[in-house]
Parts: sequence; C-alpha cells; structure tokens
Amino acid sequence: MSFPIAVLASGRGSNLAALIDARAAGGLQIDIVLVASDKAEAPALRNAEAHAIPTLGLDPKSFASRREFDEALFANVAASGAQLVVLAGYMRIIDAGVIAQWPGRMINIHPSLLPKYPGLHTHRRALKAGDLQHGASVHFVSAELDGGPVIAQAHIDIHPGDTEDALAARLLSQEHRLLVACVDAIARGTVREHDGTVLFNGAPLSMPLRLNASGSLIAP
Ligand code: GAR
Repeated sequence: MSFPIAVLASGRGSNLAALIDARAAGGLQIDIVLVASDKAEAPALRNAEAHAIPTLGLDPKSFASRREFDEALFANVAASGAQLVVLAGYMRIIDAGVIAQWPGRMINIHPSLLPKYPGLHTHRRALKAGDLQHGASVHFVSAELDGGPVIAQAHIDIHPGDTEDALAARLLSQEHRLLVACVDAIARGTVREHDGTVLFNGAPLSMPLRLNASGSLIAP
C-alpha cells in the first residue's frame, strides 16, 4: 500500500512537482492525498488539480487568528488520511500547538545548510558571507522556525561570480532530489524521528545524512 502524504505549498510548487513526477515514474511509493495552500492562486494547486489530486486553498484573512487558520487547515489534513505532512515552499509559520499534534510527521525543505540561515534570503546571505558551499536541508518540523532535527542535506559549490538567481536555480534541482529521497526514506520507514532525534535504520544520527550523486541518502 502506498504511503499517504499531504503537501503544503504557497507558490510555484516545483518541489511538489518533483514528488508527483517521482511517483509517476514508479520510484516513490506514495499517495498524495491532499495539496493545500494559503494562496488560492498558487500554481502548486493548479498542478495538483491537473494530476487529479485533491486540493484546498484557505485564505488566512478569513480567520480571526493564526491558531484558528492552522486548526482549520490541519483538520483538513488529518481528514485526508495523510501520515506525513510535507512543507514544500510553504511560507507561513505554523502555530506551535498545531505542530505539536504532528510529532515526527511533518517535514520541511529549506534552502540552506541548516543551522545556517534559517528564514528568508538564504542564497543572498550565503553569497554575502563568502561561503564556498551552499545547500538545502530537509528537517522534521519543530516549533522553532527552520529549527527541527535535520534529516539530510544536499551540498553545492558556490562559484566565483555566482548571482543569487544562479545559485537558487542550481540548488533547486538538488532540492528536488533531496526531498524525493527523504520522503522515500520516511515512507519506507528507514528514517523516523524519536524524541527530537533522527533515527536512520533505527540508529540515532549525530549529523545529517548526505545526498550522493545518484540521489541516495548516505550516512556522513
Ligand atoms: C524552495 O526553494 C524551498 O526550499 C523554499 O521555497 C522554495 C519553494 O519552491 N522554502 C523555504 O524557503 C521555506 N523556509 P517551490 O515552490 O518551487 O517548491
């Protein structure tokens, strides 16, 4: 049986598209049971509809508080039967009480080598700092912004003369592979979270897994 996931996305949805494509190619045994967004016009919702995936667009402005919005959103997520929530370019902070209801069952992809550069403008900040390497992280979600335990990272080199856009574009293709590999590992049960620690094949990870050239996750 396929592993049911829900995807939350606020915009373009290229990471969602990577999951849809990997599933269609047969390598990823998941069922995307819901794609939800805080933006009714998000291209991610249109792509999901085109693939006959159930969608939900909820406007935060129709709710009195963040908590009420998140409770309504996650009531729908729970009703979808999802076992895992994937934040794929979901650009809203989620209420801590709602996050606590999904322990070890919510992941986020973030375009930096966490704990470096939580928040916005990660490519700009890596360039400004003169970093030689940049990357993306997939982590279990905690109440701290971009702060939960990191499952795996993809690394790329920063080239002389790189612009923010060039770096973002080069990283994005690695993000897609990283997210697919992490969702696959969780669906297969090789990765899970226990008490704030990532377990890989049952053993605690002291450092994030790395994405290798063939798209597999390997211990560091
Ligand atoms: C991705 O780069 C993702 O890592 C980032 O938003 C982009 C969404 O692209 N997420 C964050 O910055 C979350 N803190 P997509 O809509 O094409 O998947």
